Amino acid sequence: MTPAPRTLSIDLGDRRYPIHIGAGLLGDRARLEASLPAGPLLVVSNTTVAPRYLPALRTALAGRVLAECVLPDGERHKTLATLASVYDALAAARIARDGAILALGGGVVGDIAGFAAATWQRGIAVAQLPTTLLAQVDSSVGGKTAVNHPAGKNLIGAFHQPSVVVADLDTLATLPDRELRAGLAEVIKYGLVRDASFLDWLERSLERLLARDAAALAEAVERSCRIKAEIVALDERESGPRALLNLGHTFGHAIEAATGFGEWLHGEAVAMGLVLAAATSERLGWLAAADTARVRELVRRAGLPVAAPRIGVTRARELMALDKKVRAGQVRLVLLRRLGEGVVSADYDRGALESVLAAELG
Ligand code: NAD
Ligand code: GLY
Repeated sequence: MTPAPRTLSIDLGDRRYPIHIGAGLLGDRARLEASLPAGPLLVVSNTTVAPRYLPALRTALAGRVLAECVLPDGERHKTLATLASVYDALAAARIARDGAILALGGGVVGDIAGFAAATWQRGIAVAQLPTTLLAQVDSSVGGKTAVNHPAGKNLIGAFHQPSVVVADLDTLATLPDRELRAGLAEVIKYGLVRDASFLDWLERSLERLLARDAAALAEAVERSCRIKAEIVALDERESGPRALLNLGHTFGHAIEAATGFGEWLHGEAVAMGLVLAAATSERLGWLAAADTARVRELVRRAGLPVAAPRIGVTRARELMALDKKVRAGQVRLVLLRRLGEGVVSADYDRGALESVLAAELG
């Protein structure tokens, strides 16, 4: 049975905003309008998502001035050139400070449209309308926006919180299986880093999630957003605990970069990174072998990779040194004190990391 919509709130003082999660929400005019300014609106979407979900939005917002900007699909278009086309659309639609952008799509659309909103006329409102599992549980919440630079991913960006997040669970019905599984990697991350009982629930509910059971998906999105909202409210600009949300990402980025961005989806590389973070935590004596085996088994059951590409220890080390969490030349890793409790550490035994890199990537 489809559960009733639920609303969480992310507590950022006067920039607090609602996160609505439920079925059919793209057609819910009252809910959309409650958090939008009165001026003209620009929907930013892409060639895959727009034909499926823009009509519902057009109908829901009939009577409002609603311009559209449909971007090419794909991470390789997350560039300054694509961003420039969004600015052109904003200018053509005469969007001023009383207007807003509606970002309809996955994390790529959300990040580009969010950055356009952060910078257009020094900042206008953006509503995030995420349509992938990854975007519903992660990228639409928390205000990180960016485009890529040839020198690296997400190097040009800003923190710009949305005015509202509307996660319409119905959109997940058309998501390719591989993208659904990639989103599950981020869901598993939340359990590992913050909530052992959520991890237990995921182990019990994985088959229902893979079968896209509406109640299970609603629960997974809500519990993930709850954890993300709590951590972002503690540390909006990532000077402390927000880095916990990068569990698995330092390893994952190295895998993505070494294999050429695109071969492994981000969520697939993160999933492998979760296994490597658990293995490193085990070598440090923090996790038992049975804990690491549990992580590996959950990732495997989710249809995500549990064997890393053999990129070599030296290359892995070089790529991990490019991580945004590096401070004074030290790679800080998110590790697990126990299942359900992550820790950001620069002060770990390098031998433990080296032995995991040699065993899994060498
Ligand atoms: P994506 O946006 O590329 O979407 C994946 C694919 O699914 C695309 O082809 C897209 O067109 C398609 N799609 C989207 N919704 C669909 C639907 N409902 N039905 C059918 N197809 C659909 O990828 P993603 O995994 O959503 O996001 C990855 C991006 O998010 C990366 O650029 C990453 O850097 C960014 N990200 C940002 C944050 C943040 O905090 N801002 C966090 C995590 C990831
Ligand atoms: N995806 C990690 C963060 O938002 O901080």
